[in-house]
Amino acid sequence: PNEPPMVFSWFPVVGSTITYGMDPPRFFQENRAKYGDIFTFILLGKKTTVYVGTQGNDFILNGKLKDVSAEDIYSVLTTPVFGKDVVYDCPNSKLMEQKKFMKIALTTQAFQSYVPIIADEVTSYFKKNADFKGTSGIVDIPSKMAQLTIFTASHSLQGKEIRNKFDESLADLYHDLDMGFSAINFMLHWAPLPWNNKRDHAQQTIAKIYMDTIKERRAAGKSDSQDMMWHLMNSEYKGGVRVPDHEIAHMMIALLMAGQHSSSSTSSWIMLRLASRPDIMEDLYREQVEALGADLPPLTYEDLSKLPLNQAIIKETLRLNAPIHSIMRAVKQPMPVPGTKYVIPTDHVLLAAAGVSATDPQYFPEPDLWEPHRWEKDHPLTPRLSKSEADEEEKIDYGYGLVSKGAQSPYLPFGAGRHRCIGEQFANVQLQTIVAMVVRMFKFRNPDGSNTVIGTDYASLFSRPLEPAKIYWEKRN
Ligand code: HEM
Repeated sequence: PNEPPMVFSWFPVVGSTITYGMDPPRFFQENRAKYGDIFTFILLGKKTTVYVGTQGNDFILNGKLKDVSAEDIYSVLTTPVFGKDVVYDCPNSKLMEQKKFMKIALTTQAFQSYVPIIADEVTSYFKKNADFKGTSGIVDIPSKMAQLTIFTASHSLQGKEIRNKFDESLADLYHDLDMGFSAINFMLHWAPLPWNNKRDHAQQTIAKIYMDTIKERRAAGKSDSQDMMWHLMNSEYKGGVRVPDHEIAHMMIALLMAGQHSSSSTSSWIMLRLASRPDIMEDLYREQVEALGADLPPLTYEDLSKLPLNQAIIKETLRLNAPIHSIMRAVKQPMPVPGTKYVIPTDHVLLAAAGVSATDPQYFPEPDLWEPHRWEKDHPLTPRLSKSEADEEEKIDYGYGLVSKGAQSPYLPFGAGRHRCIGEQFANVQLQTIVAMVVRMFKFRNPDGSNTVIGTDYASLFSRPLEPAKIYWEKRN
């Protein structure tokens, strides 16, 4: 009786699975118009309650541990891919400690060494790749960005030894592992199907590669760099327990997988957006010349902060093309929704969709327009955020560092609360470096010269451009 309104559907069990799955943002928008910020629909037989807007984001993403659970939803998918005893295959308190360990390796000092590594990977990638020979051409961009993302992430986060293995065996193994991350596996994760067998073999083989590397480093008694593996090898749980080797290996897999889909989708969108707005690509080039000098010296971490438009490109692209459109939580006990008569029962799943507030005209004038300049001061399209929203106000520590207490901001591409992303700064460094280097080398436009942008593929867990997604490139002199 006190449940939120139910989205009408003619089909039992299937419910709105199809209309949701085809275009989640449109589904949220249409039903918000009909039912308000909170409503329930049937997703694969499960009552799924969506709560959009800033209050909905806060209600779900800052839900208490006794009320909501992420691992109850995600573990079937992630545990076979990452391996045991990490992330969602352990109590939440352990995940909080693991996030703290992983975050220690993602500091300013680390980023200073990552920028030249990433910049060199970008330069050599475009020099070597057969599809970028000559002075101009047309290319399907997402597969290129997927490769570039894994090369730059593995080299910076996991070191040269592991990076070099991506030219050989590791690329195929990670591809097989990735097959475990399909939406269908929410139901078929357990089945002895060809793709699941490949997934399991790949998980074991990759974990062994990392564990062998750990053993070699320990035997050598030293490590060349203080990278992610080094930090994890030197971390201790409360009570002084060292992190076991298999957990280090599984965290290394989890980090690469978490970053891969989100960053490669985002970089593809950025390249496609730039192709749709060659004028912005020229603004970016000019920004670098003015801030860094006409000779464009080797890029450093410090340089990135001198390039506000380069930063805004990522911010604006994540506003419109956030790779994670739905965040789910299981309901552990009946949850009254403050300010309403509703109580969410335990047989519902909660769904947060922060993309809805990020495209709400209440906060973002002309919300559907990709306009990176809107993040500049006093631009006519500057976001309308109250001070507390802009500041993300009070902070709280869930065990892995300070994060904002409420999810008051309408702009949350990296989530909020105890499950918030720890890879945000790394992703920004990686994406800003890639964009800055690409802008130095190329001019892009759409093959037909138009300003249009391709649609979104929502079929996999992380949304990305529909393929083929082609751009026309031309080398700068
Ligand atoms: C969590 C987005 C890159 C590691 C999250 C969440 C979001 C997100 C929305 C919250 C998920 C939830 O509440 O269920 C993004 C975006 C990225 C990005 C948009 C890039 C553009 C990365 C990278 C890494 C990473 C590069 C690793 C270096 C993680 C981890 C979590 C997380 C470990 C925590 C999961 C949890 O506590 O349950 N990310 N992410 N992410 N992300 Fe990212």
